[in-house]
Amino acid sequence: MAHCLEYLDSLPSFQRYKNLILEAMNPQPGQVTADLGCGLGFDVLRLARLVGPQGRAIGVDASLTLLQLARLPSHDSTAVEFVNTDIQKLPFQDGSLHSCKVDRTLQHVERPASVLHEMFRTVRSGGVVVCAEPDWGTFTIDHENRAMVRQIAEFWEESFRNPWMGRQVNNGLREAGFLDIQVQGALLIAPSWEASDKVFDIVQTAVRLAETTRNEEPLQWLSQARERDAVRPVWSSVTLFLNVARRP
Ligand SMILES: C[S@@+](CC[C@H](N)C(=O)[O-])C[C@H]1O[C@@H](n2cnc3c(N)ncnc32)[C@H](O)[C@@H]1O
Repeated sequence: MAHCLEYLDSLPSFQRYKNLILEAMNPQPGQVTADLGCGLGFDVLRLARLVGPQGRAIGVDASLTLLQLARLPSHDSTAVEFVNTDIQKLPFQDGSLHSCKVDRTLQHVERPASVLHEMFRTVRSGGVVVCAEPDWGTFTIDHENRAMVRQIAEFWEESFRNPWMGRQVNNGLREAGFLDIQVQGALLIAPSWEASDKVFDIVQTAVRLAETTRNEEPLQWLSQARERDAVRPVWSSVTLFLNVARRP
């Protein structure tokens, strides 16, 4: 997970949507902001630079292992704080945050509505929240074997707790009480076979599909796709739904 998150952060399409998130949050010096499900904390450091030494950027994650890695590069920033807890119940006072974001994490949690409710409770009136979630119903692989691509994509989609979070989060924000909800799409692109495997775990998915269906075809497809990639890149993508909303 740590290697994957580090690699993702370096991809141009990821950097583009990360910049969109920061622009929408627009954190000002001295403000308090939080990143829910912060992983390795790259965005927490970016937020800390924007709120400055008088502000606070808080990263929250359930994985102690990831937070220990996140803490390493941030020891010299007084604005950074990491909290190891479940984002479905936040240890923050009502209205204590100026802004808050959750990025590719609602897709994993048991009760996404509880996270949105906690965001509503902890962000102050007028504060901005941003939710960026993929919708695995939009996963594509550029390979001519459409039947196999569909099978692999569906198998991968079903490995997520909330695979359609992308399309669902807009109504979730409305139901939590947020206003002025604006949605836009961002395409997350893995530009080659190697990148597709690192980002979307295609090899393991095909291997697991072969084991589950007791069918060799996914394994044969793997070697065809590798050969195809040498002459014409096998690239893949998913659409990320980026919702920006305001607390009334
Ligand atoms: C796909 S990673 C995204 C990390 C980060 N937001 C980024 O953009 O790189 C999902 C993260 O959510 C965390 N996570 C999943 N469920 C969680 C929960 N219920 N409470 C807190 N963190 C959670 C995982 O530990 C992981 O770090």
